[in-house]
Amino acid sequence: MKIGLKQFWGKNWCQKNIQKPLVAFHAYLGAQEIHQSVLPLAIMSSGDNKQSQAVAKPSFSEAQACVLVESVFGLKVSKIRPLPSYDDQNFHVCISRTKDIPDGPTEYVLKINNTEASKTPDLIEVQSHIIMFLRATGFPTASVCRTKGDSITSLMSLDSGSETKNFLVRLLTYLPGKPIAEIPISPQLLYNIGKLAAKLDKTLEKFQHPRLSSLRRESFIWNLKNVPLLEKYIHALGQNRNRKIVEQVIQLFREEVETKLSDFRECINHGDLNDHNILVEPSTSASEDAAYQVSGILDFDDMSYGYYVFEVAITIMYMMIESQDPISVGGHVLAGFESIIPLTAVERGALYLLVCSRFCQSLVIAAYSCQLHPENQEYIMITAKTGWKHLQQMFDMGQKAVEKIWFETAKSYESKISM
Ligand SMILES: Nc1ncnc2c1ncn2[C@@H]1O[C@H](COP(=O)(O)OP(=O)(O)O)[C@@H](O)[C@H]1O
Ligand SMILES: [Mg+2]
Repeated sequence: MKIGLKQFWGKNWCQKNIQKPLVAFHAYLGAQEIHQSVLPLAIMSSGDNKQSQAVAKPSFSEAQACVLVESVFGLKVSKIRPLPSYDDQNFHVCISRTKDIPDGPTEYVLKINNTEASKTPDLIEVQSHIIMFLRATGFPTASVCRTKGDSITSLMSLDSGSETKNFLVRLLTYLPGKPIAEIPISPQLLYNIGKLAAKLDKTLEKFQHPRLSSLRRESFIWNLKNVPLLEKYIHALGQNRNRKIVEQVIQLFREEVETKLSDFRECINHGDLNDHNILVEPSTSASEDAAYQVSGILDFDDMSYGYYVFEVAITIMYMMIESQDPISVGGHVLAGFESIIPLTAVERGALYLLVCSRFCQSLVIAAYSCQLHPENQEYIMITAKTGWKHLQQMFDMGQKAVEKIWFETAKSYESKISM
C-alpha cells in the first residue's frame, strides 16, 4: 500500500522489528500462547507526557484475534486478515451469520490498543463515544460494537510471568470505500474534505461526556500546540538545510503562533485527517460535482483539544503530500472549510506557519524514528523526501506568495457560490 507521511513514519517498519517473547494469554485463550512484541516505538502518539519509551505493541496472531472476537463479542469469525497499524493492532474480520445473529453487519475491524494507550481507558472511551455520536449525526464513521457484557471496550490482561500487560480491545464496523491515497484528488474533493473537517469540528461542539477533559492532552506530541517539543528530537536531523528550516519554523511558531493561541477559537480536533484515514467511493449523488464522495472517516486516536485553524492546517498538509500541485491544495481545502467556518484574520494569518509546522512534526518524528531503527532508514528517507521537498518549496516561496495562491483560490469559490 502507498503510505502517507504519518502512517509510514513509525508504522509498517515497526512491524518488521519485533522481538517476540512468549506470554500466556490467560484472560481468554487459556493455555494458548501469543506472541507479544515489545517495541521501543519512537514517539508515543497516544499517551501524554511519555513521548519516548518502550511501548508494547500488541502482536496477536490471526487465530488469537478470532478467539477474542468470538469470546468477547460473541461473533463467529469466518475470515480474518491483518490491517496496517501505527502502534496498535488492527484486523479486518468477517463473521458468519448464525441463528443468534441473523442480521447486522458482517465485516468489522478489531482494534487492539498498545499497552500505553490501554492505560488511558477514559480517553479511548471518549473517542469511542465520539465515533458513535458522529455516526448518529450523519457522519460516515463506524459503529462501535458492544461486548457480550454490554461494554464498548474490553480490557485484556496478558500475564508473561514477570509482568501483566493490558490491552484495550474494540470492535468497529468495517466501512466501505478505499483510502483517498489511492485516487487522484480533484479540487472539488479537496473542497469537500475541507468542508467535512469543518462540519466535524462544529458538530463536536455539541458532544458532551463526563470525561471530556481527557481530550486535553497537554504534552501530546502530535498536537500542533506542541511544536516546540520537537526540539528534543531535532538532533536526529543532523546538520543540514532541513534542520535550519525546522529551527526557523519552530522559532517563528514561538513568536507568531504561540503568542496568538488565545485569539484562536478552540474546539476538539480530529487531528489526523490524512489520506489513509478518509475513505471514498464513487459518487452516487447527481448534484455532486466530485467523482468520489467520502464513505468513511477513520482513526480518532489523535483527537485532542485544539483550534479550528489546526484542523484546516493538518488537513492541508496531508492533502499536499501526494499532490502533483501541492501549493494549490491549501486554497481548495480552505474554501471548503470556510464554507462552514470562516476563519478570522488572526487564524488565517497563522495558517501558513501551521502547515509548515505540521510538516516539521511529521518529518522530525520520522527522522527520530529512523535513528531508533536505522535498518529502515533507506525506505523511510525515500518516503520523507517528498515531505521535505514540499516544506522547502513552501519555505522558499514564503508566506506572502503562498497565502496569495491560497486566498485567491478561496475567494474564487465565494464568487462561484454567490453566482
Ligand atoms: N472501520 C474501518 N473500516 C474500514 N477500514 C478500516 C477501518 N478501520 C481501519 N481501517 C483500515 O485500517 C487502517 C488503519 O486503521 P486506523 O484506525 O487508521 O489505525 P492507525 O492508528 O494505525 O492509523 C486504515 O487506514 C484503513 O485502511
Ligand atoms: Mg490511520
